[in-house]
Amino acid sequence: MADYRVIHRLEIDPAAERRALVAGLRATPPCIAPKYFYDDLGCALYGAICALPEYYLTRTESAIFSAYRVEIAQAIGAGGQFVDLGAGDCSKGESWLPFVAAKRYLAVDIAAGVIERALARLAPAFPGVEMLGLITDFTLGLDLRRDLVQLPTTFFYPGSSIGNFTPDDALLFLRAIRRHCEVPGSGLLIGVDTIKDKARLDSAYDDSLGVTAAFNRNVLNHVNRVLGSDFAASAYAHRGFYNMEARRVEMHLEARSTQVVTLDGAPLIFDAGERIHTENSYKYVAEDFAARLELAGFRTVRCWQDARGDFAMFHAI
Ligand code: AVJ
Repeated sequence: MADYRVIHRLEIDPAAERRALVAGLRATPPCIAPKYFYDDLGCALYGAICALPEYYLTRTESAIFSAYRVEIAQAIGAGGQFVDLGAGDCSKGESWLPFVAAKRYLAVDIAAGVIERALARLAPAFPGVEMLGLITDFTLGLDLRRDLVQLPTTFFYPGSSIGNFTPDDALLFLRAIRRHCEVPGSGLLIGVDTIKDKARLDSAYDDSLGVTAAFNRNVLNHVNRVLGSDFAASAYAHRGFYNMEARRVEMHLEARSTQVVTLDGAPLIFDAGERIHTENSYKYVAEDFAARLELAGFRTVRCWQDARGDFAMFHAI
């Protein structure tokens, strides 16, 4: 029987979560953690972003996969466990399973509904693979050791999700992954977006259809459900642009007029033009990121890129 299990490890105390969210909203400047993008609608909107003409990341990453699939799979080796960090609908992970002949597949994500549906779909297609869903916020600290078995482990972190960490925190996160790679043959397969023209980065995060704008504003609907607040999503303009000095794309929600929001029974005022910071997406020079992987303790780093150098895929062991 094709089967799967989903383990809920979101051990966070909901009250502490709400306090952290409120503290961010009342901070100067106000901010919301990007994990709040990913409610069910947010996951669907992110899927739509990946199909946008301007959002080259996903398309370029999958072109690199197609071009070098066998070579990368050889670097990974066969018969291990494949840990998909931020697995979402599991479609990227699914494309690797036959090539790496995985014995176990662990889909790790904060969005429970999405993982349930994905594994229900995947399990019958891979009857020989042990399927496990882990619902957790690994950005708060990665500790999956109790869910791993003594098999070579490949951590898969595609899509340039690493860009949501500051470069310092990214290094800490890479070190945490490295510490999980005790079994020989274990490693990391990670996708990273590269520094490029400001115009291309700007349009990738402020597309002509307004899908990224909807994705950004939807965070307020999610926050309203978590906090019982009354943000009016349409009262905020989407801002998404590349900050060259900081080497990151920034997303903000900018109040179009004065906004009074009720949070925990107390008013919170946003002046017209005031911004809530919702995301940073750091971009790297490929050589710099390879050096960072070595700093994190990986000994052998290989890199695959598209001809334009728009995106970089690393395998590090
Ligand atoms: C999922 C973090 C890789 O930064 O490109 C897409 C999220 N935000 N459009 C990114 C996102 C706006 C995405 N990551």
